[in-house]
Amino acid sequence: MSGIRSTGFLHLGNYFGAIRNYVRMQTEFNCFFMVADLHALTTHPDTKELKESVQRVLAENIACGLDPEKAALYCQSHVPETAELYLLLNMLAYKGELEKTVTFKEKARQHPDNVNAGLLTYPVLQAADIALHRADLVPVGKDQEQHLEMARNFVNRFNHRYGDVFPEPHAFNFGDELIKVPSLDGGGKMSKSQNQYATIYLSDEDELIRKKIKKAKTDIAPEKPNSPKPESIQNLFLLMKLVSEEDTIQKFEDDFNHLTIRYGDLKNQLAEDIIRFVSPIRERAKEIFNDKEYLKKVMTSGAARARESAQSTLKLVKSAMGMDYF
Ligand code: TRP
Repeated sequence: MSGIRSTGFLHLGNYFGAIRNYVRMQTEFNCFFMVADLHALTTHPDTKELKESVQRVLAENIACGLDPEKAALYCQSHVPETAELYLLLNMLAYKGELEKTVTFKEKARQHPDNVNAGLLTYPVLQAADIALHRADLVPVGKDQEQHLEMARNFVNRFNHRYGDVFPEPHAFNFGDELIKVPSLDGGGKMSKSQNQYATIYLSDEDELIRKKIKKAKTDIAPEKPNSPKPESIQNLFLLMKLVSEEDTIQKFEDDFNHLTIRYGDLKNQLAEDIIRFVSPIRERAKEIFNDKEYLKKVMTSGAARARESAQSTLKLVKSAMGMDYF
């Protein structure tokens, strides 16, 4: 089970960090992937763009290879059982631990005028998303580690108090190395909200990709053969490893080591290889986004599958809690 917030556009970091994992998981496990529109409300109370964002995120994920026939793809608010479990789990979440959450403190700092209770209980809602399907594997990036730890605490408290209903959820990814997709400005990683020019979005047009790569940070050319690469150059090579052919990468490695490298050529090649990767996804996402009938079908059937799973979990929950009154 995993959730994708509907705020912001998907970028290469999301693809290589998360979505690629989802696509692989859907053939091996019974998967639920959800667009977190309720979570979005904790920081984005203005709903003018919500509908479009939800549809776009869904379209982009399908364009990346998520298959609604395999995994259940649904929208969080279409599964009201989420809210019910969230309410019950709220009784097992302590104000003190919620206030200590790093994401809460960050967002409270960014929006001091809107420190709402939903923001405080964001991790409880996320725990409800996961526990709703009694999921144990949660493909998420490093930034979600604390939320998952809290989810484990909430479900363990439930299990201790009322009896074993939930498995412990853990972060999951294939292989052991979490992929970091570097940003184009020399430091950090690509991100939804920071420097837009340093991030390649799956919706970027070809020309924009060329422009962004052209502006990417480089460094002075190497002066001695086989020197270590400066960070910004290392980053360009890291990106190449994600999108380019083996012998292309080797050629530029050799050029670097033999002092014949021209960063302009490296960038041109990188831009074209990124375009080769992004443009089919972008075009497919546009088609899906415009096909409202199809999106409706996907969301309806995804929600039905999710609700079935949710209702059977809530039955167990109610019976464990002694709330099966009749
Ligand atoms: N909080 C997650 C994020 O910011 C999104 C999310 C919501 C999620 N519900 C979830 C992730 C359940 C995993 C499981 O990316």
